[in-house]
Amino acid sequence: MEINKKYHLRKTCRICGKENLAKVLDLGEMPPANSFIKKEDLDLPEDKFPLVVYFCRDCSLLQVLDIVNPNILFQDYDYLTSASKPLAFHFVEMAHLLKKQFIVSEDELMIEIGGNDGTLLEAAKNECRVLNIDPAANIAKISKEKGIPTINEFFTEEIAKDVLAKFGSAKVIVANNVMAHIDDLHDVFRGIKLLIGKSGTFVFEVHWVGNLVTEGGFDQIYHEHLCYHSLLALQNLVSQFSLQIFDIETVPIHGESMRVFVGDKDMFPVTERVKAFTEREKKLGLDHEETFFEFANRVEGNKKELVSLLSQIKKDGKRICGYGAPAKGNTLLNYFGIGSDVLDFLTDTTPMKQGLFSPGMHIPVLTPDVLEKDPPNYILLLAWNYAEAILKK
Ligand code: TMP
Ligand code: ZN
Repeated sequence: MEINKKYHLRKTCRICGKENLAKVLDLGEMPPANSFIKKEDLDLPEDKFPLVVYFCRDCSLLQVLDIVNPNILFQDYDYLTSASKPLAFHFVEMAHLLKKQFIVSEDELMIEIGGNDGTLLEAAKNECRVLNIDPAANIAKISKEKGIPTINEFFTEEIAKDVLAKFGSAKVIVANNVMAHIDDLHDVFRGIKLLIGKSGTFVFEVHWVGNLVTEGGFDQIYHEHLCYHSLLALQNLVSQFSLQIFDIETVPIHGESMRVFVGDKDMFPVTERVKAFTEREKKLGLDHEETFFEFANRVEGNKKELVSLLSQIKKDGKRICGYGAPAKGNTLLNYFGIGSDVLDFLTDTTPMKQGLFSPGMHIPVLTPDVLEKDPPNYILLLAWNYAEAILKK
């Protein structure tokens, strides 16, 4: 993408390259979901871009074709892994599992693409060489300060060539909550193939489209999320690079996410779990457009229900706030038209979001201690994926 172009519309499916696309859900013009606003900038015009979801009838990938320049979305990033304790804990656990399963000697290399503040690699760095490749300058700085070698770039085939020359090949590449963000998946997979060679493994976690569809969690849709992955669509992608998905499990992150294991097509035996998961997806109809039209209808029903509930509470003279200021909360608030006349404020544990205002709806984001000092009557849980941990608090 040209460096100074803010937005462009893609015409083809990013896995199979065809144009056999069905329009599923049109969310209208939306501000980027993590573009929180400073108080002094509230009167400035805000960038808004179309947000429309398509289903590919050929390879089954659900995707957004509206591409906001990744430099706008990711270079100065407000999302910090360590701000969500359950997520940080999950990644530390994953680091231990990966070491156990794949790392046999200290000189082997573990690379993380989009490793954010280094939460996962920090837990691996005493037992192997590690390398974080993350495009966010403010976040890469935190990772470096933890003593993790960090390249502040988007991962591409070009970067992979450099890394191969300087660090050698990788035993494991990890990429969590990154595969949904990538427009040029082919370029990234060429880079991965280069770095893992015959014997390395690529492991990634990504939100599962089956969860989105069954739970109606349309709020996961925002410009950062270009793809809503299924195993069916991913198999089509990896096979184009002589790779295969040899194992899969699900993890309770963002509702339900897939943890996918990819390796050379001839090197790893494929587990029964892969076949079983494929069957599960077919039963859910994830390879049929009708499934996604039904999902879109449910979103409209949920909109009516939530908006009328909130307006009843307001009529009763009660105060409501939102818990969490996650990106997905901004999709929900903007699409449902829930503004500061309904929610007095949002709270969030991310220091970088505190004191700012939510994109589009301009609701102030405060520190969570306000809930004790000045408790509202109702709290709308926007960070619903952490319901258990948050309800305990
Ligand atoms: P995510 O759903 O995209 O991971 O974002 C979750 C947001 O919720 C993130 O901004 C941090 C915030 N959060 C809280 O404010 N309190 C909490 O207890 C947790 C777990 C997250
Ligand atoms: Zn396709």
